[in-house]
Parts: sequence; C-alpha cells; structure tokens
Amino acid sequence: MEDPLIDAARQVRENAHAPYSRFKVGAAIDSVEGRRHLGCNVENVAYPEGTCAEAGAIAAMIAAGDRRIASIAVIADSPDPVPPCGGCRQKIAEFADGDAPVTLATTGGKVLRTSVAELLPGAFTVGHMDRA
Ligand code: THU
Repeated sequence: MEDPLIDAARQVRENAHAPYSRFKVGAAIDSVEGRRHLGCNVENVAYPEGTCAEAGAIAAMIAAGDRRIASIAVIADSPDPVPPCGGCRQKIAEFADGDAPVTLATTGGKVLRTSVAELLPGAFTVGHMDRA
C-alpha cells in the first residue's frame, strides 16, 4: 500500500489482543512533533476494560513526549472502513485540530479520508470551559 501511515497501522494491527471480538484494529499517529506512534486494541476478559487501538496510539504519543496529532490512520479487517467509536473521537479531538486528517482503511484496500471535525462536529473543547 502506498500510504506509509496506513502501512504502519496495518503492521501494528497484527499485535492486537482481541480474543473476544476477534476484531483486530491498528492505529498510527504522525505527531506534529514529527514522530510516529502506534497502537492496537487490547481486550480483556472483563470486557469493559478493553482499550481501542486509537487510545493505545494516543497513550504511546503522550508517553513518548509528543503532544499533538498531525494525522491518524486506523485499519481493520472489515468490509468498509471502521469509524472510531464515540469515546475515541473525543480522545482524538483532545490532541488534534479539527482539520487534522483521519484516514480509515480496510485490510482489503478501501480507504476513507475524513477529518477530526467531521468525525466529531460541535466537539466539547477547553474553550467551552472559559469563564468570563
Ligand atoms: N475497536 C478499536 O480498537 N477501534 C475502533 O475504531 C473500533 C473498535 C476495537 C474495540 C474492540 O476491541 C473491538 O474493536 C471490537 O469492538
């Protein structure tokens, strides 16, 4: 595949721990600071304790010392590109501008290009907490 961010997400997807859903997901972030960070879903027998691939990639970015998402790609083995869950949309919005590209891909080669603001219009942001 020609998109290196999708390729990175595809590779880390292989490491997912998804024995319950059998649905492996990979995510890759290029940070504004210029590094790439990877995440995969990590499920748990106590199902709500599982974490999404996007959350893993964000945690890796923050732990590495970077602070902003320039671009994120997510890939799964699905008929159509899988949109991030609601919680992950909020997590991504915490660290990205609205116009940051979000690339959703399937292992079969379908690609949907969208943005943070398209995925979470009207996002709750820190600006909403400003008090005059
Ligand atoms: N999942 C992700 O990791 N990211 C998404 O965008 C959609 C869903 C995971 C959570 C769970 O481990 C499995 O996919 C099935 O929902």
